[in-house]
Amino acid sequence: MLIRHRRLRSLLRYIHPEVTYTLSHLAFRNMPSLIIKLLREDLVLETKLFNLKLRNPVGVGAGIDKNGDLARVFIELGCGFHVVGSVVLGEKRGNPHPRLYRYPERLALINALGLPSKGASYVLRQLERISRRRESAHIVANIAGESLQELVALSRIFDRADSVDIIEINLSCPQYTRSDFHRPDIVEELLLKVRSICTKPVLVKISPRIDTSTLRGIVRVCERFTNVGLTISNSFPTTAGFLSSGVGGVSGLPLYRLSKKLISYVRALSDVTVVACGGVFTGRQVLELITKYNVSAVQIVTALAYGGLHAVSNILKELKHIVRGHGDQRC
Ligand SMILES: Cc1cc2nc3c(=O)[nH]c(=O)nc-3n(C[C@H](O)[C@H](O)[C@H](O)COP(=O)(O)O)c2cc1C
Repeated sequence: MLIRHRRLRSLLRYIHPEVTYTLSHLAFRNMPSLIIKLLREDLVLETKLFNLKLRNPVGVGAGIDKNGDLARVFIELGCGFHVVGSVVLGEKRGNPHPRLYRYPERLALINALGLPSKGASYVLRQLERISRRRESAHIVANIAGESLQELVALSRIFDRADSVDIIEINLSCPQYTRSDFHRPDIVEELLLKVRSICTKPVLVKISPRIDTSTLRGIVRVCERFTNVGLTISNSFPTTAGFLSSGVGGVSGLPLYRLSKKLISYVRALSDVTVVACGGVFTGRQVLELITKYNVSAVQIVTALAYGGLHAVSNILKELKHIVRGHGDQRC
C-alpha cells in the first residue's frame, strides 16, 4: 500500500481492514515496479540465519502473503527474507467474514482469517516465478495443518522446492482445533519425521500463550536437531464474539513485551536460533531484539497493516541510519 500522505493514511483507518487488505494486494500485484521504485532502500545490514546469509535481518512474517503473490515486491523492496503462508495442502477458503478487527489506539489487530490458502501447488508455482530474481533474499515457507501427516507432507514438498530456503512450521494458529501441538513429545515426534525427509533449516513457530515448562521442553527438543530454531511468536489467542469464528489472535504492539519476555526465557536456557515476531514497528526495536536478545532475524506483520509498505522501508531506513552511527544507539 503506497500511502505517502499522512491525511490519506489516517483516512484508511476508517476503511474496513478486509477492504484495505484486498486493495493493497491488487496494487502490489498490478503496479509492483512503481511501488518498488518509490520505496526501495539500498542498504547492507548483512546477518546470518542458520547457514544463510541475509542482506538484513528484517522480513515480513506469515499472514501478509499467504500464497506467494507478493514475494517479489517485498524482496525487491529490500527485505532480508520473506515468509509465505501459512500454506496448507489443498485450497482452503478460511473463515467467513467478519474475521479482522482493528484497534488503532493500541496498534493492534484481532484476526481470525482461518488459514485461507490457495494450496501448496499454487504457492510453489508462484515462488518458482521469482526464484531466479531473488538473489540475496531468502524465502521461508510457513506451513500449517491439523495433523502431523499434513505437516510432514508439506515439509517434504517445500524441502524439494529450490525456491524455498527455510521451512517454518506453524504449531500455534489460534484457529487450530487440536490443542496438543505444543507438547514437547509431539514436537519431537514431528521434528523426527520432518528431519528424516527434510534437509532445510526448520523454524518452529510457537504461541505466546505458553507456560515456561512447555517452552523449556520445546527448547530442549529443538536443541537435539541440527538447524532447528524457534519463531517467537504467533498472535495471542483470544475469544472474539464479534468475529465469525468466535476466536481470534491478537497481534501488534501489545505483543512486544511478551515476545521479549519469552525470548529472554529461551536465551537464559539456550543459544538455539530464535526469530522474533510480535509487535515490531521500528528499526530501534529490531536493533534491541538483535543486540539485547540475540535473535537472528525479526519478522513484522501488523506494522504493515498500519503503515503499508512504508513500514518496511521506514524500519530498514531507521536501521541503516542507526548502524551508520547517525542515530541514538540506545534501545
Ligand atoms: C492478518 C494476519 C494473518 C496472519 N496469518 C498467519 C498465518 O497464516 N500463519 C502464521 O503462522 N501466522 C499468522 N499470523 C501471525 C503473524 O505472523 C505474527 O506471528 C503475529 O501477528 C505477531 O506479529 P505482529 O505483532 O508483527 O503482527 C497472522 C497475523 C495477522 C495479523
